[in-house]
Amino acid sequence: MNFHVMTLFPEMIINGMNTSITGRAMEKGLITVNAVNIRDFTKNKHLKVDDYPYGGGAGLVMQAEPVYLAYESIEKKLSKKPRVIFVTPCGKTFNQTMAEEFSKEEELVILCGHYEGIDERVLEMIVTDQVSIGDYVLTGGELPAMVMMDCIARLVPGVLHNDVSAEFESFHENLLEYPQYTRPEEFMGKSVPEILLSGHHANVEKWRREQSLIRTAKYRPDLLEKAELTDKEKEWLVQNLKKS
Ligand code: ADE
Repeated sequence: MNFHVMTLFPEMIINGMNTSITGRAMEKGLITVNAVNIRDFTKNKHLKVDDYPYGGGAGLVMQAEPVYLAYESIEKKLSKKPRVIFVTPCGKTFNQTMAEEFSKEEELVILCGHYEGIDERVLEMIVTDQVSIGDYVLTGGELPAMVMMDCIARLVPGVLHNDVSAEFESFHENLLEYPQYTRPEEFMGKSVPEILLSGHHANVEKWRREQSLIRTAKYRPDLLEKAELTDKEKEWLVQNLKKS
């Protein structure tokens, strides 16, 4: 998977992605991160990339030309037109299903905005997807771009050590993940649930499924509506949600 990030702060992208699991994935060549500085494509001597909005209003708008030229510099090296994601609070909210879809692409271009936005004309020309990471406003698109790349990169084969873990984590089948415990058996008077020490695999699986149901019902009832539960599980949940 090759990420191409169009940004005014390339060092932020490289420093962020160079660390931890994504950093190791870059070392192994499983992912590459090409941060393209939009400012390198200005033609004025002051290296200005923004200007006042037509019609008035607060803030500055990123100009179309440097963004277009930065895109062109990426596109001309690729064999087909890539998917271009513009990260913006106005986009469709990012989720695990979108991450899975994006992870199938060989090349992914991400455009980060700053100031009050980007001239709409260049967005119409190059952008294929507009994506938000949630209903709040950040100062720029770099953090959202990194959130998305982190999420997409871990779905690339080989990036995670155990490929099975992606099947058992939160949002799989619209359920949140069950609670996890590790040694010691007792911590400040709090014990690990007995069942996890029993070695009885089927009972452990049943307990984990029940914990997932309870958690999802408590914290994400909207997800639970989309999850597939047996009649028995629905009944169990009604009985046990009150107790938890
Ligand atoms: N840029 C600023 N805020 C954002 C958000 N919530 N998601 C994506 N891009 C953004």
